[in-house]
Amino acid sequence: MRPSLSGLLTGLATVAALLLAAPAAHAADPPLRDLATAKNKVIGTAVTGSKLTGTYGEIAGREFNWLTPGNAMKWGSVEPTRGNFNWTEADQIVDFAEAHDQDVRGHTLVWHSQNPSWLDNGTWTPAQLSQLMNDHIALEVGRYKGRLAAWDVVNEPFNEDGTYRQTLWYNGLGADYIAQALTAARAADPAAKLYINDYNVEGVNAKSTALYNLVRDLKARGVPIDGVGLQAHLILGQVPSTLQQNIQRFADLGVDVAITELDIRMQLPSTAAKLAQQRTEYDAVVKACVAVARCTGVTVWGFTDSDSWIPDTFPGQGAATPYDENYAPKPAYYGIATALGGTVTEPPVPTGCSAVYSVPNQWNTGFTGQVTISCAAGSSLSSWRVAWTFGAGQQVGQAWNANCVQTGTAVSCSNASWNGSVPSGGSVSFGFNGTWSGSNPVPTVTLG
Ligand code: XIL
Repeated sequence: MRPSLSGLLTGLATVAALLLAAPAAHAADPPLRDLATAKNKVIGTAVTGSKLTGTYGEIAGREFNWLTPGNAMKWGSVEPTRGNFNWTEADQIVDFAEAHDQDVRGHTLVWHSQNPSWLDNGTWTPAQLSQLMNDHIALEVGRYKGRLAAWDVVNEPFNEDGTYRQTLWYNGLGADYIAQALTAARAADPAAKLYINDYNVEGVNAKSTALYNLVRDLKARGVPIDGVGLQAHLILGQVPSTLQQNIQRFADLGVDVAITELDIRMQLPSTAAKLAQQRTEYDAVVKACVAVARCTGVTVWGFTDSDSWIPDTFPGQGAATPYDENYAPKPAYYGIATALGGTVTEPPVPTGCSAVYSVPNQWNTGFTGQVTISCAAGSSLSSWRVAWTFGAGQQVGQAWNANCVQTGTAVSCSNASWNGSVPSGGSVSFGFNGTWSGSNPVPTVTLG
């Protein structure tokens, strides 16, 4: 699983060199989904359908046992113009999930955001609105009947102070739109678990108390409600201390609780200290769910920083997910794994500067050598010298971006006038032509 490196590889010597030189950032063994299953929990991720191939698809399939379409099932995605439907991405995600033995959380049916403009901009009587909502639910839930484990039926119904959000639905139908939506969803797929989902309801506060009172009242009326979704779009350093207590109070109402959209954002740039704190906080959130029997599990809102909504929505913030942009597991990944009972062998945090030798190209009696000098965050160089000993009679010829001399089998290359400086977190490469015969083993290089 080294896609970014594989493109560089030609020739067996190079493969050998890189395998030695690049210890993979290794994910937990077993994967998160196995750890979660052993705890009777689920672990999910939001996904983008078009990305479910290659490394993204491998990780999504291997590590998670629930998927939520990040956008694909929203009203604006599935019915962009009235009566014209596009199910391509939603179908793709459901098919992928079934092929990987995963459950799907449908997201979302009744919301104030990401609706088609024909719906937002229309003028509707209450009767028309009710019909539109019920028909939409019947159609979408019906389409996937028996295939989805849960639906976020109503999304984000509350304001921060616990009053109802003034939306198309609330303004037209009153607060009872929620009960109507749940009832329509139950009729369309009796097997799917029906949720109300919101943000800033993770801790005990005015908003979560409004949600609590709503769920209590719905249950008392016999309206079908199976669970509450706590989105958990959290800010580093601000995980609510009452998270577990809050999960427990919903559970005590007789509904399931799911953490549905977990991410923990930070001010960029990320630093080792912030990422370590983020690990602790991911661990704490997942542990809070593990501690409550009716907490079904945790879904992260995108598993990689390259597929996170945070940088677009909160400029200057990011690094919110458990994998970095290059699909390497971050400390947060190990936080999730340990909260799920895993013991993980973590990759050593790189420190200092090091040199890696590779052979990008090799033919009859010639080859091209390449050496890359890299410095981890916090280390830098203002000049460098790399040395090695050839073990099979190889001979260095012309070099570029370095000055190389060979005496017997010993080679020493120092920086050119323009590339002595290797910044913190940066790298510099040089190359050379060489000759070989018989074999061309990769030497051990030292950086002086
Ligand atoms: C976000 C998506 O991730 C973005 O791609 C999109 O541009 C906006 O919506 N709460 C929700 C999710 O319930 O549907 C939102 O998803 C994030 C906040």
